[in-house]
Amino acid sequence: MVDRKMDILRALKEAGKKPISGEELGEKLGISRTMVWKYIKILEEDGYIIESSPGTGYVLVSVPDKLYPSEISIGLDTAIIGKELHYFETVDSTNDMAKKMGIKAEEGTVVIAEMQESGRGRKGDPWVSPKGGIWLSVILKPGILPVHAPRLTLMAGVAVVRTIKEFGVNASIKWPNDVVIDGRKVCGILTEMDAEVDHIGFVVIGIGINANVSLDDLPEELRGSSTSLSSVKGESINRPAFVQALLRSLETEYLRFKVEGFQKILADWISFSNTIGRQVEVITPQKIIAGKATGITVDGALIIETSEGVQEVIAGRCIYK
Ligand code: BTN
Repeated sequence: MVDRKMDILRALKEAGKKPISGEELGEKLGISRTMVWKYIKILEEDGYIIESSPGTGYVLVSVPDKLYPSEISIGLDTAIIGKELHYFETVDSTNDMAKKMGIKAEEGTVVIAEMQESGRGRKGDPWVSPKGGIWLSVILKPGILPVHAPRLTLMAGVAVVRTIKEFGVNASIKWPNDVVIDGRKVCGILTEMDAEVDHIGFVVIGIGINANVSLDDLPEELRGSSTSLSSVKGESINRPAFVQALLRSLETEYLRFKVEGFQKILADWISFSNTIGRQVEVITPQKIIAGKATGITVDGALIIETSEGVQEVIAGRCIYK
C-alpha cells in the first residue's frame, strides 16, 4: 500500500537538517506541492514539529513521543516480524486484538498500543499498562506442536533480555519468564494460542515492558516488586528505537529457533536466568515444592532437587529463599 505520509516523513528524516522544498518532495513522490503541504499538516497534527520557510523548504525538527508505525517501520530491517504493524492509542488488550486478527493475519504482524485498558497477565491477573510503556503482541505461525509452544515464551524472554542489554541495562530472567532488573520485574510475557491437539493455527506472544513508566502510575502493591527502564537509567529511553531493536532481536531468535532448533536458545535462557542454582519455593495450586532449582526442561518446567528427590514443575509462583 502506498503511504504518502510515511514517504514524506522518510524523505524528511533522510534530509536531516537540510531543508527540502515542497517541489522536490512532490517530484520525488509524484504528487503536487499542495498534496505535500496537506501531508505536512497531517504530520503536524500527529505531533511532528516541522519548520517550513518559504524560500528553502521543510525541516523535521522533532518527532512525537509515540510508537507510531512510521516511527517503528522507518529503519526497521526485519523480514517477518513487524512488517505489518497495527497501532492503537488505547486498546483493551493487544493480545485480544491480535487474537481477533489471528489466522488471517500475516505471520509477524505486530499489534502495539500506548495504553491498555484491560491488559492481561498470566493466570488471569490484570496487567497494568499506563502510558510510557511498550505493550505489544506478535502473531507467529511456527508450525510446531502445541505442546512445544512454551518454547516460544522462553525465546521471547531471551530476545527481551538481549534488547535491554543493548540499551545498557543488565537484566535477567526469573522463572517462569519474568524479566527483572535487580530482582524487580520490568517485563512480563503472555503467550496464547489458537490450536488443535496436533496443530497450531497461530500463537500470540504478548510482551509488556515498563519502558518509560513512572512507578507512581503503578498500583501501590506493585511498586516494590516492579521497576521501569527509565527509573533504572534515570532518563527516558527512546521507545521506538527500543521496539525496533526488540523486533529485530525477536526475529533473530525466531529464525534461530526454526533453523537450529531450541537447544541453543535454551542454553541462552539458562545463562540469563537468576533462578537456576538458587533455593526456591514454588507455590502451585496443589502444593508447595521447596528445594534447589537445578535446571529447566525443554518445555520450560523448573527442575527442583527436593528432599524427596528431583521434581519438575511446569507452572507456579516462585519465591527465592
Ligand atoms: C505476566 O503476567 O507476567 C504477563 C504480562 C503480559 C503483558 C502483555 S502487555 C501486551 C500483551 N497484552 C496483554 O493484554 N498482555 C500482554
